[in-house]
Amino acid sequence: MFQLQNVVSWGRSFQDYLEMFNLSANELELSILDCAGGPASFNAVMKQQGKTVISCDPIYQFTPQQIQQRIDETYPMIIQGLHQNFDQFVWDKVGTPEALGEARLAAMKTFLADFPQGKEQGRYRDMGFPELPFANDTFDLAVSSHLLFTYSQQFSWQFHLQSIRELCRVAKEVRIFPLVQNFTSFKSRHLDSILETLTAQGYYTNIEKTVYEFQRGGNELLKVRPPMKI
Ligand SMILES: C[S@@+](CC[C@H](N)C(=O)[O-])C[C@H]1O[C@@H](n2cnc3c(N)ncnc32)[C@H](O)[C@@H]1O
Repeated sequence: MFQLQNVVSWGRSFQDYLEMFNLSANELELSILDCAGGPASFNAVMKQQGKTVISCDPIYQFTPQQIQQRIDETYPMIIQGLHQNFDQFVWDKVGTPEALGEARLAAMKTFLADFPQGKEQGRYRDMGFPELPFANDTFDLAVSSHLLFTYSQQFSWQFHLQSIRELCRVAKEVRIFPLVQNFTSFKSRHLDSILETLTAQGYYTNIEKTVYEFQRGGNELLKVRPPMKI
């Protein structure tokens, strides 16, 4: 069975996506790739609104029942982790770990209801970093949350660089959130040198604040654009 390197299956809502990626109403009309989309409801809600997103994640090889089982196994661990590390999170909007859990479960239920049809339609693809088998410039925008930089301990510097360059190959703009590592308030150990290397290679990088902040200090979004093609 595919090893997900201890990456949890946990999905956020459409509203979370708008806030994590500073997405404007106009930008929702773009062609969008969500890489490491997991059981988030962004793709499902966009479809309800008549828009199309392509989501990639190795978990899409599994059946809805298997994904549901993974969510059920993950749920108590996450709630316990939130209680144990309560002060590392911002509770103004969500209130309690249980309320957050309910909100995430609702989003994942929306994903699960959409997944069988969405997979048939090619909106959910079983693929992942560091190689994305799409042609150059297939998408206007690629977003990715809670994998790159978040799992800095599990994924190497090379993996990060290769994955970001690959996103920039298939999309005209890339947005990655958050920039803190392993569910702490500390900036990813890879961030500074990845930015330096991308800049030296001609990529345009920019860090923007987000209104979304659940992990303390996790309120920054990295935008990357590929070098100009002459
Ligand atoms: C914490 S979830 C984040 C889901 C969603 N982006 C969100 O923020 O709600 C991380 C996801 O990364 C996926 N993942 C693990 N390895 C991956 C890879 N090499 N390429 C793409 N996704 C991967 C996992 O399967 C998991 O669904």
